[in-house]
Amino acid sequence: MTHGEKRLPEAPGEQPAARGNGKSAVPVAMAVENIVKRYGDFEAVKGISFSVAEGEIFGLLGPNGAGKSTLIRMMTTLIPVTAGRALVGGHDVAKDSNAVRRMIGVIPQALTSDQDLTVEENLSIYAKLYSVPRAERERNIAEVLEAVDLLKWRGAQTKTLSGGMRRRLEIARGLVHDPRIFFLDEPTTGLDPVSRIAVWEMLNNLKKSRNLTMLLTTHYMEEADRLCDRIAIVDHGTLVALGTPVELKQSVPGSNVVEVQFATESEQWQARLEALPGVTEVQSQSAGVYRVLTSNGSQTTTQLVEMAAAMGETLTSLSVQNTSLDDVFVHYTGRQLRDEQVKPVNFIMPPRPGAQP
Ligand SMILES: Nc1ncnc2c1ncn2[C@@H]1O[C@H](COP(=O)(O)OP(=O)(O)O)[C@@H](O)[C@H]1O
Ligand SMILES: [Mg+2]
Repeated sequence: MTHGEKRLPEAPGEQPAARGNGKSAVPVAMAVENIVKRYGDFEAVKGISFSVAEGEIFGLLGPNGAGKSTLIRMMTTLIPVTAGRALVGGHDVAKDSNAVRRMIGVIPQALTSDQDLTVEENLSIYAKLYSVPRAERERNIAEVLEAVDLLKWRGAQTKTLSGGMRRRLEIARGLVHDPRIFFLDEPTTGLDPVSRIAVWEMLNNLKKSRNLTMLLTTHYMEEADRLCDRIAIVDHGTLVALGTPVELKQSVPGSNVVEVQFATESEQWQARLEALPGVTEVQSQSAGVYRVLTSNGSQTTTQLVEMAAAMGETLTSLSVQNTSLDDVFVHYTGRQLRDEQVKPVNFIMPPRPGAQP
């Protein structure tokens, strides 16, 4: 199917953190320029700019209330733009909303498929709604059902599906009219970890097989990290950082994180950790527990162990990790956005005999 879309020029006014992408040859699929949304006196989106290249999976990562859904709703013509503009597939959402609607698929945050209909009926209604010609309808439905691995459930009532299967049905429904650009608002929120990974694989395959451009929102760092080519971190309606997962992590001073727990809490740990070589930041987590950002994880760890031994102090646990998007979020916002609360501890040091538990 051809869509006859106009191609956008590279979006002007992209925010500085977008530097380093350097893929100026790739055409832009969509862009927002200083986009603003006000609800009365409250500014939910405060002048955000970015552009998404064709074929990219672009993520909006941020906590609840950051303005992610509001951004998606403006870009998909569901709510008016207060100021600035959004261009999707070459069309201004405010001036040419019908053209935008024809070329996009949208998966809203809430599940919206009809529980009392079968899987196939839910898709069929959408295909008709989008005026997919009768001859193409059946083929499209079979193709999208296959793509989300629901072919054998086509006759099942939607209410009998698990949460993960329903999410996949919604993804299929958003694709039944063969859109070029796909918007997904929190596609895996509420799913168990296994279903979540299944959805990631599915989206990756869809991107490749259908040459889709995707914009998704998430508050899961791991999801953004694993799935997205580039990520815009949003917080309180502003864009705080933009780049590939690797670029974002490299932009944080200290490329490793050492997590250490001392058996006894002491006021001196903070200063002693800060004095170790390579250390750029020390965050106190709870009594005796510290996260140490360092440019040299192994050297800092060695010296930390030596320092503790010299002082006769026991380390209850110690682990070294690469910088995560979590650290990126903390760096840019001063707050934490941790989805997976517990990180693996690489090794645990047994307490010395006679030490306090
Ligand atoms: N219709 C509305 N009227 C007033 N405030 C709203 C409305 N929709 C969203 N908001 C507010 O805008 C902010 C951003 O919301 P939203 O875009 O849903 O965030 P996110 O999707 O990142 O969780 C929140 O503070 C929310 O309460
Ligand atoms: Mg939301």
